[in-house]
Amino acid sequence: MTSNAIRICETGLRDGLQNERHCLSAEERASLARLLVAAGHRHIEAGAFVREDRVPQMAGSAEVLQRVHGLAARFTVLVPNLAGWRAAEGAGATSVAVFAAASESFSQKNTNGSTAEVLARSREVAAACRQHGATLRGYVSTITHCPFEGRVAVQDVVRVAEALFDMGCEEVSLGETTGRAVPRDVREVLSACAVTLPLEKLALHAHDTYGMAVANVTAALEAGLRSFDSSLGGLGGCPFAPGAAGNIATEDLLHLLHGHGCDTGIDADAAVRVALAAEKLLGHELPGRVLAAARRRN
Ligand code: HMG
Ligand code: MG
Repeated sequence: MTSNAIRICETGLRDGLQNERHCLSAEERASLARLLVAAGHRHIEAGAFVREDRVPQMAGSAEVLQRVHGLAARFTVLVPNLAGWRAAEGAGATSVAVFAAASESFSQKNTNGSTAEVLARSREVAAACRQHGATLRGYVSTITHCPFEGRVAVQDVVRVAEALFDMGCEEVSLGETTGRAVPRDVREVLSACAVTLPLEKLALHAHDTYGMAVANVTAALEAGLRSFDSSLGGLGGCPFAPGAAGNIATEDLLHLLHGHGCDTGIDADAAVRVALAAEKLLGHELPGRVLAAARRRN
């Protein structure tokens, strides 16, 4: 890896699709995954093994995994508990993400348990992953704002991130769930994290509700982060964070990073084509700005 290398985790097929009214079939999701890999993506979040009655868009994640098997990328799936792990493992998952929130209200709404309870379930998943040699990633949600409680204390974020590293996560993604943060908030949370946590193992997962995601990623880049999550076309949000928009659009992130001389390994034009393909499958336009510019050109 070069010193200006940046890791990108494409979350459109999970974080993106989970907020869509129309559910894509497993084959439609796999077809987008193939395009993502062809564009140069090497880390893709492909689905979630959660309750289908709570997130129906993620039903069929096992079939998605089976259909993308053998492609040259790491496919991660979201797993909340041992029931999810058993299903994921049965589908051949080798990379898992556990998720917990820094705010108690969001934890209850999203995962039906307190943060401590959710971390305890995640520890069980982590132990199973260790036993089976699966790679483990962690998310901390609501790193600056909670949709129900407002501002979140930085020490709560650090505490949850520490717990995720302690259970064996190789990377922890800091989820700015509501998209309300401004760069100052991101700098504050990262400087608190830097005291006890390895910055090189942190990622930023920036939702773009208020159009601040590019600014927030820039602040994180300047603070030393080298790993970012994004969503094709800016698709998505979280069904349990009312009003939140999708993650930073992958094409916008690439425009920013490539313009800064960073190396992502992803072809920016091919990334636009993936987002256009997703629009076609979903039957509506996606909010990414680079994508809108491409649409105007055509
Ligand atoms: P629960 O209801 O507390 O679970 O769900 P339970 O253990 O009490 O079991 C109740 C029933 O659910 C049982 O079935 C279980 O078998 C079943 P019954 O006996 O009644 O027929 N069950 C499951 N079924 C399928 N898969 C499972 C599973 N677990 C139990 N894994 C749970 C707790 C967390 C599973 C539930 O609340 C849930 O699925 N929540 C959805 C979580 C979710 O997907 N949220 C969106 C993704 S997170 C996100 O977007 C944030 C992120 O992007 C970062 C950021 O932006 O901040 C990552
Ligand atoms: Mg998210």
